[in-house]
Amino acid sequence: MLLLSLSRRRVSRGGLAVGLLSACGLLLAACGGAPPREPDETQRVVNVYTSRHYDADQRLYALFTARTGIEVRTQEKRGEELLALLQAEGDQSPADLIVTVDAGNLYRLQEAGLLAPLASAAIADAVDARYRDPNGRWTGFSRRARVIAYRLDAVDPSSITSMDDLANQAFRGRVCARSSTNIYNLSMLAARIERHGPDAALVWAQGVVANFARAPRGGDTDQLKAIAAGECDLAIVNHYYLLRMQRSEDPAEREAAALIGMTFPDQGPNQPGAHVNISGAGVAAHAPHPAEAQALLEFLVSTEAQSLLAELNEEFPVRPDAPLPEALAAIGPLREETTPLSALGQHQAEAARVFEAAGWP
Ligand SMILES: [Fe+2]
Repeated sequence: MLLLSLSRRRVSRGGLAVGLLSACGLLLAACGGAPPREPDETQRVVNVYTSRHYDADQRLYALFTARTGIEVRTQEKRGEELLALLQAEGDQSPADLIVTVDAGNLYRLQEAGLLAPLASAAIADAVDARYRDPNGRWTGFSRRARVIAYRLDAVDPSSITSMDDLANQAFRGRVCARSSTNIYNLSMLAARIERHGPDAALVWAQGVVANFARAPRGGDTDQLKAIAAGECDLAIVNHYYLLRMQRSEDPAEREAAALIGMTFPDQGPNQPGAHVNISGAGVAAHAPHPAEAQALLEFLVSTEAQSLLAELNEEFPVRPDAPLPEALAAIGPLREETTPLSALGQHQAEAARVFEAAGWP
């Protein structure tokens, strides 16, 4: 990278050069510098913009580099920040592969025109069409179920076979939840809107709000900790958070996890199946290294990577032939809802309105 080597030289010559460098960063053309994404001729590279911050991902990227010689450079941002950054960078973005959680985020990326068409037979063969964009611009690479976590000494699991049960008045003052602005909750409610319409979704949300033990706050792990601390008996969380607490290196977390059970809701023959969302990725619309980006995505859905993701991150694979590690197999068979993942994005705004009307902050 010309700019990079230029910058190293200037910085080494003294403080003033730093100011010059910033000005050049802002006004590249005026400084006569080369574009920052000029390809390196000796090293193949893929720039990954990701809203996932898991060690497992870094291990997979390292393995990909070891296999292919392609260097993986990551830029980590939260979902909304990632979208804003990509929009600000426009066609000058160095992003090659965009990795995120939740079909709602993938929908937003696609709607914003930030993803290139994904033409990969390897991906189409590996991943069930259900977990791929109907418009062919992203693919899921892992699955996560939204489950009911409950305090083992306070709740009979037969009373919580459905997400509907969290609205049951038997649970007044006993439910913890995270904010409705969180995309996991928005997508879950979007799926309910797709199945039953906004009016029924509102009635359910109002019932859950009436059962809140406290105002929504924190992430999924915080809901589990609140159960362990006795603040509430029930919470909605993604399945892997409890599995991670169970194998935490912190003994206090393991003790907390020992007080908590979880159940896949809505598994009965007349029930819709548990709400399942994905992590996924797509090649950036202006990717400087689209071939490398596609190669990394193909690697992520390979049997090897799928098994590792399941093992290290406790997410379910998207390819049926990837073996389940013991921890995932032990939590039992998962029957998931058939609601199209595209509906999660399409009903996102309506889900936000329903949450607001229900008084779920
Ligand atoms: Fe998560």
